[in-house]
Amino acid sequence: MSHNTILENQQRQPLDHLDSVWLFGYGSLIYKADFPFLQRRPAQIHGWTRRFWQGSHDHRGTPEQPGRVATLIKAPEEICVGMAYEVTPDVFAHLDHREKNGYLRFFTEFEWLDGAGAVKGLVYVAGPDNEAFLGPASEAAIAAHIANSEGPSGPNDEYLLKLAAALRELKVNDPHVFAIEQALIALREAV
Ligand code: SIN
Repeated sequence: MSHNTILENQQRQPLDHLDSVWLFGYGSLIYKADFPFLQRRPAQIHGWTRRFWQGSHDHRGTPEQPGRVATLIKAPEEICVGMAYEVTPDVFAHLDHREKNGYLRFFTEFEWLDGAGAVKGLVYVAGPDNEAFLGPASEAAIAAHIANSEGPSGPNDEYLLKLAAALRELKVNDPHVFAIEQALIALREAV
């Protein structure tokens, strides 16, 4: 599969007949909402876990030196907390462009974090079969990789640190993200 997913996303889910669509964000979409939205609410999805296993060729790295960013990995026992946005369907032109490096959108159910019900919406997932997928590595190795990566959207460590701060604000304990953050801080202190 090509790692530019724009066309595939447009074809798999025409959205124009809908008045609005909910989107679940779990990575940069939590802290960087560079699109108009009608409302946003903290939410969680079941059966997925956040991992820095996706390569970034277009935001936090380059095709020659990909950065590492978040994707979701299937994990039946896990819950992933993030931020949901209600948007009009035209916003997906921007989102598909932003998430084009391997992410496909899926409809799934997410629950509001305050326990007041659930809704069906879209989430972008970069699966193991996309060309930019990097897969597992130790959290120390991921931190070292992130410390040395940069792309058109800025340094890779900014992505990690902003995500960790946003998760803290949401009162989420994400051991994977926080372990990478700690390893990055230790690396910086060692220089
Ligand atoms: C997301 O945030 O939901 C997708 C991954 C990213 O853009 O960082």
